[in-house]
Amino acid sequence: MHEHLIRYFAENRRLVSPDALERLSSTPEPLLACRMVVERMPPEEMFVTLSIVETVLHPPAGSASAPTGRSSPGPGEPTRTGSVLSEGPLFSLISEGFAPGPGGRAPLEAYGSLFTARYRSLGRLLRGRPDLPNVTPIRDLRQRPGAASIVVMVREVRPLQRRRGLRLSVEDETGAAEVIVPDEIPASRVTWIPDEVVGIHVGVPTDLHRSVVAKSVVRPDVPTDRPRHRAGRPHRVLLLSDLHIGSRSFLDESWAGLLAFLRGQDVAPDVASEIRQVVIAGDLVDGIGIYPHQERDLAIGDIVEQYAELGRRLRELPAELEIVVVPGNHDAVCPAEPQPAIPTELTTSLPPNVRVLGNPSTFAMGGVVIEAYHGRSFDDLIPALPGASYSRPTEVMKTMLAMRHLAPIYGSRTPLAPLPRDGLVIDPVPDILVTGHSHTYGVDQYRGTLLVNASTWQGETGYQRMRNITPVPARSAIVDLTDLSVATLDFLSGRGKEIVLS
Ligand SMILES: [Fe+2]
Ligand SMILES: [Fe+2]
Repeated sequence: MHEHLIRYFAENRRLVSPDALERLSSTPEPLLACRMVVERMPPEEMFVTLSIVETVLHPPAGSASAPTGRSSPGPGEPTRTGSVLSEGPLFSLISEGFAPGPGGRAPLEAYGSLFTARYRSLGRLLRGRPDLPNVTPIRDLRQRPGAASIVVMVREVRPLQRRRGLRLSVEDETGAAEVIVPDEIPASRVTWIPDEVVGIHVGVPTDLHRSVVAKSVVRPDVPTDRPRHRAGRPHRVLLLSDLHIGSRSFLDESWAGLLAFLRGQDVAPDVASEIRQVVIAGDLVDGIGIYPHQERDLAIGDIVEQYAELGRRLRELPAELEIVVVPGNHDAVCPAEPQPAIPTELTTSLPPNVRVLGNPSTFAMGGVVIEAYHGRSFDDLIPALPGASYSRPTEVMKTMLAMRHLAPIYGSRTPLAPLPRDGLVIDPVPDILVTGHSHTYGVDQYRGTLLVNASTWQGETGYQRMRNITPVPARSAIVDLTDLSVATLDFLSGRGKEIVLS
Protein backbone atom coordinates (compact mmCIF):
# COMPACT_ATOMS: atom_id res chain seq x y z
CA MET A 1 0.00 0.00 0.00
CA HIS A 2 2.94 2.32 0.67
CA GLU A 3 3.71 2.24 -3.03
CA HIS A 4 0.21 3.49 -3.89
CA LEU A 5 0.55 6.41 -1.51
CA ILE A 6 4.06 7.33 -2.70
CA ARG A 7 2.77 7.44 -6.29
CA TYR A 8 -0.17 9.57 -5.25
CA PHE A 9 2.21 12.10 -3.69
CA ALA A 10 4.56 11.91 -6.69
CA GLU A 11 1.69 12.83 -8.98
CA ASN A 12 1.02 15.82 -6.74
CA ARG A 13 4.71 16.82 -6.80
CA ARG A 14 5.40 15.84 -3.20
CA LEU A 15 7.97 13.64 -1.49
CA VAL A 16 6.89 11.85 1.64
CA SER A 17 9.05 10.87 4.61
CA PRO A 18 8.92 7.25 5.85
CA ASP A 19 7.38 8.17 9.24
CA ALA A 20 4.73 10.34 7.56
CA LEU A 21 3.95 7.46 5.23
CA GLU A 22 3.65 5.07 8.17
CA ARG A 23 1.27 7.45 9.94
CA LEU A 24 -0.91 7.92 6.81
CA SER A 25 -1.09 4.16 6.21
CA SER A 26 -2.38 3.68 9.74
CA THR A 27 -5.42 5.93 9.13
CA PRO A 28 -8.77 4.32 8.31
CA GLU A 29 -8.79 5.87 4.81
CA PRO A 30 -5.21 6.43 3.66
CA LEU A 31 -6.09 7.89 0.24
CA LEU A 32 -8.49 10.40 1.78
CA ALA A 33 -5.82 11.36 4.33
CA CYS A 34 -3.22 11.84 1.56
CA ARG A 35 -5.56 14.05 -0.40
CA MET A 36 -6.30 16.14 2.71
CA VAL A 37 -2.58 16.57 3.27
CA VAL A 38 -1.96 17.71 -0.32
CA GLU A 39 -4.87 20.15 -0.21
CA ARG A 40 -3.99 21.67 3.13
CA MET A 41 -0.19 21.82 3.23
CA PRO A 42 1.54 24.99 2.00
CA PRO A 43 1.61 24.94 -1.84
CA GLU A 44 5.34 25.73 -1.98
CA GLU A 45 6.26 22.93 0.48
CA MET A 46 7.61 19.85 -1.33
CA PHE A 47 8.21 17.50 1.62
CA VAL A 48 5.42 15.76 3.48
CA THR A 49 6.73 15.33 7.01
CA LEU A 50 5.18 13.65 10.02
CA SER A 51 4.48 17.03 11.62
CA ILE A 52 2.58 18.22 8.52
CA VAL A 53 0.53 15.01 8.56
CA GLU A 54 -0.23 15.38 12.29
CA THR A 55 -1.33 19.00 11.80
CA VAL A 56 -3.67 18.00 8.99
CA LEU A 57 -5.08 14.98 10.82
CA HIS A 58 -5.51 16.83 14.10
CA PRO A 59 -6.00 20.51 13.24
CA PRO A 60 -5.85 22.90 16.21
CA ALA A 61 -9.29 23.75 17.60
CA GLY A 62 -11.15 26.39 15.57
CA SER A 63 -9.54 25.62 12.20
CA ALA A 64 -11.28 24.18 9.13
CA SER A 65 -13.24 20.95 9.40
CA ALA A 66 -12.92 17.85 7.22
CA PRO A 67 -12.85 18.63 3.49
CA THR A 68 -15.58 16.16 2.64
CA GLY A 69 -18.17 18.23 4.51
CA ARG A 70 -20.71 15.69 5.59
CA SER A 71 -19.48 13.26 8.15
CA SER A 72 -22.52 11.03 7.99
CA PRO A 73 -23.42 10.36 4.38
CA GLY A 74 -26.77 8.72 4.88
CA PRO A 75 -29.15 6.74 6.98
CA GLY A 76 -26.79 3.75 6.99
CA GLU A 77 -23.74 5.08 8.85
CA PRO A 78 -20.62 4.17 6.85
CA THR A 79 -18.16 1.85 8.50
CA ARG A 80 -14.91 3.81 8.54
CA THR A 81 -12.57 0.98 9.33
CA GLY A 82 -9.80 -0.82 7.49
CA SER A 83 -7.87 0.32 4.44
CA VAL A 84 -9.08 1.74 1.14
CA LEU A 85 -6.44 -0.06 -0.87
CA SER A 86 -6.26 -3.70 -1.96
CA GLU A 87 -8.01 -6.18 0.39
CA GLY A 88 -10.01 -3.19 1.68
CA PRO A 89 -13.39 -3.17 3.34
CA LEU A 90 -16.61 -3.62 1.39
CA PHE A 91 -17.14 0.15 1.27
CA SER A 92 -14.99 3.10 2.14
CA LEU A 93 -15.74 6.75 1.32
CA ILE A 94 -12.83 8.66 -0.21
CA SER A 95 -14.42 12.02 -0.95
CA GLU A 96 -17.60 13.81 -1.82
CA GLY A 97 -17.24 16.73 -4.20
CA PHE A 98 -19.52 18.84 -2.03
CA ALA A 99 -17.85 20.64 0.85
CA PRO A 100 -19.76 23.58 2.33
CA GLY A 101 -17.64 26.72 2.23
CA PRO A 102 -17.39 29.52 4.76
CA GLY A 103 -20.57 31.57 4.40
CA GLY A 104 -20.98 35.29 3.92
CA ARG A 105 -18.65 35.79 1.00
CA ALA A 106 -19.65 37.74 -2.10
CA PRO A 107 -20.46 35.29 -4.93
CA LEU A 108 -17.96 36.79 -7.40
CA GLU A 109 -15.16 36.62 -4.90
CA ALA A 110 -16.17 33.03 -4.19
CA TYR A 111 -16.03 32.15 -7.91
CA GLY A 112 -12.57 33.72 -7.99
CA SER A 113 -11.45 31.36 -5.25
CA LEU A 114 -13.12 28.41 -7.02
CA PHE A 115 -11.02 29.11 -10.11
CA THR A 116 -7.88 29.59 -8.02
CA ALA A 117 -8.59 26.25 -6.36
CA ARG A 118 -9.08 24.59 -9.75
CA TYR A 119 -5.87 26.15 -11.07
CA ARG A 120 -3.86 25.02 -8.05
CA SER A 121 -5.24 21.46 -7.96
CA LEU A 122 -4.67 20.85 -11.67
CA GLY A 123 -1.40 22.81 -11.71
CA ARG A 124 0.00 20.47 -9.04
CA LEU A 125 -0.57 17.57 -11.43
CA LEU A 126 1.41 19.33 -14.19
CA ARG A 127 4.40 20.85 -12.41
CA GLY A 128 7.56 18.81 -12.30
CA ARG A 129 6.80 16.74 -15.38
CA PRO A 130 9.80 16.03 -17.61
CA ASP A 131 7.94 17.37 -20.67
CA LEU A 132 7.39 20.72 -18.89
CA PRO A 133 10.93 21.82 -17.95
CA ASN A 134 11.68 25.13 -16.24
CA VAL A 135 8.14 26.10 -15.15
CA THR A 136 8.09 29.91 -14.90
CA PRO A 137 5.39 32.31 -13.65
CA ILE A 138 3.95 34.39 -16.51
CA ARG A 139 5.14 37.56 -14.73
CA ASP A 140 8.79 36.47 -15.10
CA LEU A 141 8.54 34.91 -18.55
CA ARG A 142 9.87 37.85 -20.57
CA GLN A 143 12.89 38.21 -18.31
CA ARG A 144 14.21 34.82 -19.41
CA PRO A 145 14.26 34.53 -23.21
CA GLY A 146 14.75 31.02 -24.50
CA ALA A 147 12.67 27.98 -23.61
CA ALA A 148 10.44 27.75 -20.55
CA SER A 149 7.16 26.17 -19.48
CA ILE A 150 4.03 27.78 -18.12
CA VAL A 151 1.12 26.22 -16.23
CA VAL A 152 -1.99 28.16 -17.22
CA MET A 153 -5.76 28.36 -17.39
CA VAL A 154 -6.90 28.82 -20.99
CA ARG A 155 -9.29 31.78 -21.21
CA GLU A 156 -9.82 32.25 -24.93
CA VAL A 157 -8.83 30.55 -28.17
CA ARG A 158 -8.99 32.31 -31.54
CA PRO A 159 -7.72 31.38 -35.01
CA LEU A 160 -4.77 33.46 -36.23
CA GLN A 161 -5.68 36.16 -38.72
CA ARG A 162 -2.98 35.98 -41.38
CA ARG A 163 -1.73 32.40 -41.13
CA ARG A 164 -2.87 29.02 -39.87
CA GLY A 165 -2.65 28.33 -36.14
CA LEU A 166 -4.21 29.58 -32.93
CA ARG A 167 -3.79 32.42 -30.48
CA LEU A 168 -4.44 31.45 -26.84
CA SER A 169 -5.17 33.95 -24.08
CA VAL A 170 -3.87 32.30 -20.92
CA GLU A 171 -3.50 33.21 -17.23
CA ASP A 172 -1.73 32.03 -14.14
CA GLU A 173 -1.75 33.52 -10.64
CA THR A 174 0.87 36.13 -11.62
CA GLY A 175 -0.41 37.46 -14.92
CA ALA A 176 -1.82 36.91 -18.42
CA ALA A 177 -0.16 36.16 -21.74
CA GLU A 178 -0.93 35.52 -25.39
CA VAL A 179 0.56 32.33 -26.82
CA ILE A 180 0.73 31.46 -30.52
CA VAL A 181 0.12 27.79 -31.32
CA PRO A 182 1.62 27.24 -34.78
CA ASP A 183 -0.08 24.99 -37.28
CA GLU A 184 2.81 22.49 -37.28
CA ILE A 185 2.33 21.23 -33.70
CA PRO A 186 -0.40 18.71 -32.75
CA ALA A 187 -1.85 21.13 -30.15
CA SER A 188 -3.21 23.29 -33.00
CA ARG A 189 -5.64 20.47 -33.81
CA VAL A 190 -6.76 19.82 -30.22
CA THR A 191 -10.26 20.93 -29.28
CA TRP A 192 -9.66 23.43 -26.52
CA ILE A 193 -12.11 23.71 -23.67
CA PRO A 194 -12.54 27.14 -22.06
CA ASP A 195 -11.06 27.34 -18.53
CA GLU A 196 -9.12 24.09 -18.82
CA VAL A 197 -5.71 24.02 -17.14
CA VAL A 198 -2.73 22.94 -19.25
CA GLY A 199 1.05 23.10 -19.28
CA ILE A 200 2.68 24.74 -22.30
CA HIS A 201 6.34 24.44 -23.23
CA VAL A 202 7.07 27.75 -24.96
CA GLY A 203 9.78 29.58 -26.83
CA VAL A 204 10.26 33.13 -25.54
CA PRO A 205 11.85 35.50 -28.09
CA THR A 206 14.44 38.12 -27.03
CA ASP A 207 12.49 40.73 -29.00
CA LEU A 208 9.70 41.91 -26.70
CA HIS A 209 7.50 42.70 -29.69
CA ARG A 210 7.51 39.12 -30.92
CA SER A 211 5.06 36.53 -29.64
CA VAL A 212 5.56 33.68 -27.20
CA VAL A 213 5.22 30.50 -29.28
CA ALA A 214 4.06 27.08 -28.04
CA LYS A 215 6.34 24.11 -28.73
CA SER A 216 4.09 21.55 -27.07
CA VAL A 217 1.01 21.42 -24.87
CA VAL A 218 0.41 18.97 -22.02
CA ARG A 219 -2.96 18.19 -20.45
CA PRO A 220 -3.03 16.94 -16.82
CA ASP A 221 -4.33 13.56 -18.06
CA VAL A 222 -4.12 10.18 -16.37
CA PRO A 223 -0.64 8.77 -15.71
CA THR A 224 -0.18 5.44 -17.46
CA ASP A 225 1.92 3.95 -14.63
CA ARG A 226 -0.55 4.58 -11.84
CA PRO A 227 -1.46 1.80 -9.39
CA ARG A 228 -4.50 -0.30 -10.31
CA HIS A 229 -6.73 -1.65 -7.56
CA ARG A 230 -8.52 -4.97 -7.87
CA ALA A 231 -10.60 -7.00 -5.43
CA GLY A 232 -8.84 -10.06 -4.08
CA ARG A 233 -11.96 -12.24 -3.88
CA PRO A 234 -15.14 -12.64 -6.01
CA HIS A 235 -16.98 -9.34 -5.85
CA ARG A 236 -19.25 -7.72 -8.43
CA VAL A 237 -20.94 -4.34 -8.50
CA LEU A 238 -24.09 -3.42 -10.41
CA LEU A 239 -24.01 0.05 -12.01
CA LEU A 240 -27.35 1.77 -12.67
CA SER A 241 -28.49 5.31 -13.34
CA ASP A 242 -31.45 7.54 -14.11
CA LEU A 243 -34.33 5.59 -12.53
CA HIS A 244 -36.64 8.63 -12.89
CA ILE A 245 -39.10 7.22 -10.35
CA GLY A 246 -42.41 9.07 -10.70
CA SER A 247 -42.23 9.30 -14.49
CA ARG A 248 -45.06 7.79 -16.53
CA SER A 249 -42.35 6.22 -18.67
CA PHE A 250 -40.69 4.25 -15.82
CA LEU A 251 -40.07 0.77 -17.24
CA ASP A 252 -41.93 -1.43 -14.74
CA GLU A 253 -41.58 -4.65 -16.72
CA SER A 254 -37.84 -4.13 -17.23
CA TRP A 255 -37.37 -3.35 -13.54
CA ALA A 256 -39.19 -6.59 -12.68
CA GLY A 257 -36.73 -8.41 -14.97
CA LEU A 258 -33.79 -6.83 -13.14
CA LEU A 259 -35.27 -7.96 -9.79
CA ALA A 260 -35.71 -11.53 -11.05
CA PHE A 261 -32.09 -11.55 -12.22
CA LEU A 262 -30.81 -10.24 -8.87
CA ARG A 263 -32.78 -12.95 -7.07
CA GLY A 264 -31.07 -15.55 -9.27
CA GLN A 265 -34.29 -16.41 -11.14
CA ASP A 266 -33.24 -15.32 -14.64
CA VAL A 267 -30.10 -15.32 -16.83
CA ALA A 268 -26.61 -15.70 -15.35
CA PRO A 269 -27.48 -16.64 -11.74
CA ASP A 270 -23.75 -17.21 -11.11
CA VAL A 271 -23.09 -13.55 -11.96
CA ALA A 272 -26.02 -12.37 -9.83
CA SER A 273 -24.78 -14.32 -6.83
CA GLU A 274 -21.49 -12.39 -6.78
CA ILE A 275 -23.10 -8.92 -6.79
CA ARG A 276 -22.60 -7.26 -3.42
CA GLN A 277 -23.24 -3.61 -4.17
CA VAL A 278 -25.24 -1.30 -6.43
CA VAL A 279 -24.27 2.22 -7.50
CA ILE A 280 -26.97 4.54 -8.88
CA ALA A 281 -25.53 7.61 -10.64
CA GLY A 282 -28.33 10.14 -10.17
CA ASP A 283 -31.77 11.18 -11.44
CA LEU A 284 -33.22 8.82 -8.85
CA VAL A 285 -36.63 10.46 -9.26
CA ASP A 286 -38.15 12.43 -12.14
CA GLY A 287 -38.60 15.56 -10.00
CA ILE A 288 -41.06 18.40 -10.48
CA GLY A 289 -40.83 21.34 -12.89
CA ILE A 290 -37.47 20.25 -14.37
CA TYR A 291 -38.55 21.07 -17.96
CA PRO A 292 -41.60 22.80 -19.49
CA HIS A 293 -44.90 20.88 -19.11
CA GLN A 294 -43.19 18.01 -17.26
CA GLU A 295 -46.47 17.39 -15.37
CA ARG A 296 -47.81 15.66 -18.51
CA ASP A 297 -45.04 13.03 -18.16
CA LEU A 298 -45.48 12.43 -14.41
CA ALA A 299 -47.27 9.49 -12.80
CA ILE A 300 -46.45 10.89 -9.32
CA GLY A 301 -46.80 14.65 -9.11
CA ASP A 302 -45.42 15.12 -5.59
CA ILE A 303 -41.72 15.09 -4.77
CA VAL A 304 -42.08 13.51 -1.32
CA GLU A 305 -44.21 10.75 -2.86
CA GLN A 306 -41.59 10.22 -5.58
CA TYR A 307 -38.90 9.54 -2.95
CA ALA A 308 -41.32 7.30 -1.02
CA GLU A 309 -41.83 5.31 -4.21
CA LEU A 310 -38.03 5.21 -4.71
CA GLY A 311 -37.82 3.68 -1.23
CA ARG A 312 -40.40 1.04 -2.21
CA ARG A 313 -38.49 0.21 -5.42
CA LEU A 314 -35.14 -0.07 -3.64
CA ARG A 315 -36.69 -2.33 -0.97
CA GLU A 316 -37.53 -4.72 -3.82
CA LEU A 317 -33.79 -5.32 -4.36
CA PRO A 318 -32.25 -8.09 -2.22
CA ALA A 319 -31.72 -6.59 1.25
CA GLU A 320 -28.14 -7.86 1.53
CA LEU A 321 -27.03 -5.58 -1.33
CA GLU A 322 -25.46 -2.29 -0.31
CA ILE A 323 -26.83 0.56 -2.46
CA VAL A 324 -24.95 3.83 -3.02
CA VAL A 325 -26.89 6.72 -4.55
CA VAL A 326 -25.81 10.17 -5.74
CA PRO A 327 -28.23 12.87 -6.95
CA GLY A 328 -28.68 14.15 -10.51
CA ASN A 329 -30.25 17.25 -12.03
CA HIS A 330 -33.79 15.81 -11.57
CA ASP A 331 -33.29 15.22 -7.83
CA ALA A 332 -34.49 17.55 -5.08
CA VAL A 333 -31.16 19.15 -4.18
CA CYS A 334 -29.43 22.34 -5.27
CA PRO A 335 -28.53 21.85 -8.95
CA ALA A 336 -25.16 23.63 -8.64
CA GLU A 337 -22.29 21.12 -8.77
CA PRO A 338 -20.85 19.58 -6.74
CA GLN A 339 -24.31 18.76 -5.40
CA PRO A 340 -24.88 17.87 -1.76
CA ALA A 341 -26.52 14.56 -0.88
CA ILE A 342 -30.33 14.37 -0.94
CA PRO A 343 -31.57 15.85 2.36
CA THR A 344 -32.58 13.52 5.15
CA GLU A 345 -36.23 14.72 5.08
CA LEU A 346 -36.52 12.98 1.71
CA THR A 347 -34.46 9.88 2.47
CA THR A 348 -36.33 8.66 5.56
CA SER A 349 -38.34 6.26 3.40
CA LEU A 350 -35.23 4.67 1.89
CA PRO A 351 -34.22 1.25 3.23
CA PRO A 352 -31.28 1.10 5.69
CA ASN A 353 -28.95 -0.52 3.14
CA VAL A 354 -28.82 2.75 1.11
CA ARG A 355 -25.92 5.20 1.45
CA VAL A 356 -26.84 8.69 0.31
CA LEU A 357 -23.85 10.64 -1.05
CA GLY A 358 -23.22 13.90 -2.92
CA ASN A 359 -22.59 14.27 -6.65
CA PRO A 360 -19.80 13.54 -7.50
CA SER A 361 -18.48 11.07 -4.92
CA THR A 362 -15.42 8.85 -4.83
CA PHE A 363 -15.37 5.68 -2.77
CA ALA A 364 -13.71 2.30 -2.69
CA MET A 365 -15.56 -0.99 -2.97
CA GLY A 366 -13.48 -4.04 -2.14
CA GLY A 367 -10.42 -1.80 -2.56
CA VAL A 368 -11.38 -0.64 -6.10
CA VAL A 369 -11.72 3.17 -6.38
CA ILE A 370 -15.00 4.24 -8.01
CA GLU A 371 -16.06 7.79 -8.87
CA ALA A 372 -19.77 8.33 -9.50
CA TYR A 373 -20.80 11.53 -11.30
CA HIS A 374 -24.26 12.12 -12.73
CA GLY A 375 -22.99 13.68 -15.97
CA ARG A 376 -24.83 16.99 -16.33
CA SER A 377 -21.72 18.47 -17.96
CA PHE A 378 -22.36 16.29 -21.04
CA ASP A 379 -24.83 19.06 -21.97
CA ASP A 380 -21.91 21.51 -22.22
CA LEU A 381 -19.13 19.22 -23.42
CA ILE A 382 -21.06 17.53 -26.25
CA PRO A 383 -21.73 20.82 -28.12
CA ALA A 384 -18.12 21.90 -27.46
CA LEU A 385 -16.42 18.74 -28.77
CA PRO A 386 -16.66 18.13 -32.53
CA GLY A 387 -18.11 14.69 -33.26
CA ALA A 388 -19.27 14.14 -29.67
CA SER A 389 -22.79 12.83 -29.14
CA TYR A 390 -25.11 11.53 -26.42
CA SER A 391 -24.99 8.16 -28.15
CA ARG A 392 -21.24 7.85 -27.37
CA PRO A 393 -20.99 9.14 -23.80
CA THR A 394 -17.71 7.35 -23.01
CA GLU A 395 -15.87 9.50 -25.59
CA VAL A 396 -16.82 12.56 -23.54
CA MET A 397 -15.72 10.79 -20.34
CA LYS A 398 -12.26 10.33 -21.89
CA THR A 399 -11.99 14.09 -22.36
CA MET A 400 -12.99 14.59 -18.71
CA LEU A 401 -10.16 12.31 -17.63
CA ALA A 402 -7.65 13.99 -19.96
CA MET A 403 -8.57 17.34 -18.38
CA ARG A 404 -8.88 15.73 -14.93
CA HIS A 405 -12.11 17.69 -14.49
CA LEU A 406 -15.75 16.57 -14.60
CA ALA A 407 -17.30 19.91 -15.62
CA PRO A 408 -14.65 22.23 -17.04
CA ILE A 409 -16.96 24.67 -18.83
CA TYR A 410 -18.25 27.44 -16.59
CA GLY A 411 -21.25 29.67 -17.35
CA SER A 412 -23.24 27.34 -19.58
CA ARG A 413 -25.83 24.68 -18.70
CA THR A 414 -24.05 23.07 -15.74
CA PRO A 415 -24.31 25.40 -12.74
CA LEU A 416 -21.17 25.34 -10.59
CA ALA A 417 -21.28 26.00 -6.84
CA PRO A 418 -19.00 28.83 -5.63
CA LEU A 419 -17.08 26.76 -3.09
CA PRO A 420 -13.51 27.45 -1.99
CA ARG A 421 -12.42 23.98 -3.15
CA ASP A 422 -13.04 22.61 -6.64
CA GLY A 423 -14.90 19.36 -5.94
CA LEU A 424 -15.07 18.48 -9.64
CA VAL A 425 -11.34 17.94 -10.11
CA ILE A 426 -10.71 14.23 -10.72
CA ASP A 427 -8.20 13.31 -8.00
CA PRO A 428 -7.41 10.55 -7.18
CA VAL A 429 -7.89 8.91 -10.59
CA PRO A 430 -10.61 6.29 -10.13
CA ASP A 431 -10.37 2.70 -11.35
CA ILE A 432 -14.00 3.05 -12.50
CA LEU A 433 -15.78 6.24 -13.58
CA VAL A 434 -19.55 5.82 -13.74
CA THR A 435 -21.96 8.41 -15.14
CA GLY A 436 -25.57 8.59 -16.36
CA HIS A 437 -27.65 11.55 -17.55
CA SER A 438 -27.35 10.80 -21.29
CA HIS A 439 -29.89 7.93 -20.97
CA THR A 440 -27.64 5.91 -23.27
CA TYR A 441 -25.25 3.07 -22.54
CA GLY A 442 -21.53 2.84 -23.00
CA VAL A 443 -18.60 0.77 -21.74
CA ASP A 444 -15.03 1.63 -22.61
CA GLN A 445 -11.70 2.23 -20.94
CA TYR A 446 -9.16 5.03 -20.90
CA ARG A 447 -5.58 4.56 -19.69
CA GLY A 448 -6.62 1.79 -17.33
CA THR A 449 -9.80 3.45 -16.01
CA LEU A 450 -13.05 1.62 -16.80
CA LEU A 451 -15.72 3.99 -18.14
CA VAL A 452 -19.41 3.12 -17.79
CA ASN A 453 -22.38 5.23 -18.74
CA ALA A 454 -25.14 3.36 -17.00
CA SER A 455 -28.33 3.63 -19.13
CA THR A 456 -31.74 4.56 -17.65
CA TRP A 457 -34.99 2.96 -16.44
CA GLN A 458 -37.17 5.56 -18.12
CA GLY A 459 -38.53 4.89 -21.63
CA GLU A 460 -38.63 7.62 -24.23
CA THR A 461 -40.61 10.70 -23.14
CA GLY A 462 -42.44 13.22 -25.31
CA TYR A 463 -39.83 15.80 -24.34
CA GLN A 464 -37.01 13.54 -25.56
CA ARG A 465 -38.86 12.82 -28.82
CA MET A 466 -39.16 16.58 -29.33
CA ARG A 467 -35.42 17.01 -28.71
CA ASN A 468 -34.51 14.05 -30.93
CA ILE A 469 -32.92 12.07 -28.10
CA THR A 470 -33.08 8.28 -28.51
CA PRO A 471 -32.57 6.59 -25.13
CA VAL A 472 -30.94 3.18 -24.66
CA PRO A 473 -32.87 2.11 -21.54
CA ALA A 474 -32.97 -0.88 -19.18
CA ARG A 475 -29.34 -1.96 -19.45
CA SER A 476 -27.28 -3.03 -16.48
CA ALA A 477 -23.52 -3.02 -16.23
CA ILE A 478 -22.17 -5.62 -13.83
CA VAL A 479 -18.49 -5.07 -13.11
CA ASP A 480 -16.30 -7.87 -11.80
CA LEU A 481 -13.99 -6.08 -9.36
CA THR A 482 -11.34 -8.80 -9.55
CA ASP A 483 -10.48 -7.87 -13.16
CA LEU A 484 -12.85 -4.98 -14.11
CA SER A 485 -14.54 -7.04 -16.83
CA VAL A 486 -18.14 -5.99 -17.54
CA ALA A 487 -21.23 -8.10 -18.18
CA THR A 488 -24.02 -6.17 -19.89
CA LEU A 489 -27.63 -7.28 -19.46
CA ASP A 490 -30.51 -5.83 -21.44
CA PHE A 491 -33.90 -5.96 -19.65
CA LEU A 492 -35.90 -3.94 -22.19
CA SER A 493 -38.16 -6.88 -23.06
CA GLY A 494 -38.60 -7.77 -19.37
CA ARG A 495 -36.39 -10.84 -19.38
CA GLY A 496 -32.63 -10.43 -19.12
CA LYS A 497 -30.55 -10.81 -22.26
CA GLU A 498 -26.77 -10.85 -22.18
CA ILE A 499 -25.09 -8.50 -24.65
CA VAL A 500 -21.54 -8.78 -25.82
CA LEU A 501 -20.24 -5.34 -26.71
CA SER A 502 -17.58 -5.29 -29.40
FE1 LIG B 1 -31.92 11.47 -16.44
FE1 LIG C 1 -29.81 13.96 -15.70
